[in-house]
Amino acid sequence: MFADLSDAPLDPILGMAQVFAGDPSPQKIDLGIGVYKDENGNVIVLDTVKQAEEYLRNTQTTKSYLSSAGNPQYNDAVRGLIFAPGSDAHGRARTIQTPGGTGALRVGADFIAKLRPGARVFMPDPTWPNHPALFRAAGVETVVYPYYDVAAGRIRFDAMMDALGEQLTANDVLLLHGCCHNPSGADPDQAQWAAIAELLERTGAMPFVDLAYLGFGHGLEPDRAGINILAARVPEMIVASSCSKNFALYRERTGALTLVAGGERQVEAAKGHLLPVVRANYSMPPDHGAAVVAHILGTPALRAEWEVELNGMRERIRRVRLELVNQLAGKGGRDFSYLADQTGMFALLGISPAQVQSLRSDWHIYATDSGRANLAGLTMANVAHAAEAFASVTR
Ligand code: LMR
Repeated sequence: MFADLSDAPLDPILGMAQVFAGDPSPQKIDLGIGVYKDENGNVIVLDTVKQAEEYLRNTQTTKSYLSSAGNPQYNDAVRGLIFAPGSDAHGRARTIQTPGGTGALRVGADFIAKLRPGARVFMPDPTWPNHPALFRAAGVETVVYPYYDVAAGRIRFDAMMDALGEQLTANDVLLLHGCCHNPSGADPDQAQWAAIAELLERTGAMPFVDLAYLGFGHGLEPDRAGINILAARVPEMIVASSCSKNFALYRERTGALTLVAGGERQVEAAKGHLLPVVRANYSMPPDHGAAVVAHILGTPALRAEWEVELNGMRERIRRVRLELVNQLAGKGGRDFSYLADQTGMFALLGISPAQVQSLRSDWHIYATDSGRANLAGLTMANVAHAAEAFASVTR
């Protein structure tokens, strides 16, 4: 079975870490995988996470199995992060813990394959490269819709609405990024979310929202506005969310899948049908990250501290994003001013594979082959070098 295999290609995002590690230059900058780095270039453990780990070390009495749904306190807390407790959507929603946001997407894809055979999932162009791969692995057909104009640096909203209006049917699923679109950083505004909700109502298609960066756009409340606009208008929805970024728990694989249905009875029934999908896959999610998050969100003082830490991460990315735009002004090359209007970690530089290669070989700066840069890898100390490089390769 293995004898005639040729070398497999590197993953377009995870593979970057290996390429970066092989560069001995002291000037090198990693703008590859989506992790938040502090002003010293470190991927930190949040102080609130350390406090919660200390608490768990002292109080946890068992490592016995949980259910396929994972930690119930975590599930309730995450549901409350996405939908305000007491709201109509919150009452119609149920959350299960999953191994990261990726695990949530895959369980959701398997669930669609089980309940809606023949459904197509419409995904934005561009999108996170793992999206098509994991829906296809679940046997779900994928269709691409126009989303972002790389050259202009803005959403192609009219083209998106025209394409979706012509093609979406009631059997289809529309994949949307809840905030901080990966890779472009460009999100719909509130009026556009309302228009998308109206389109979904009209076509009967179901939204599947990937919410991996909650809190990294404008803050917890504004970042969930789009999802809540949809939930107020559509009867059913799936949300894949992640604590990888906003709790910096990357390797702990701490995600969640939230189902929204027409009412409490329907959502409980849907959850009942979801759990066997999990059982037949990984049985139940890993505990640690979810136990940490449940303790932080369930302890008011810790939760307030976490929000300060989250705001700090978001504001640092914002500062360095604006500084980059500032340093690029007047240097010639591409007009990068559009970056100031976008949010989250990522930006599409709008450069060719040859220019990406030149960033690596001439400047020791590592973006993905698609020209996506994780701006959270910039610091006030290295942003000038990055600005020089971006201007130089686009002149
Ligand atoms: C990214 O897009 O870099 C992150 O979501 C990490 C990953 O798993 O690809």
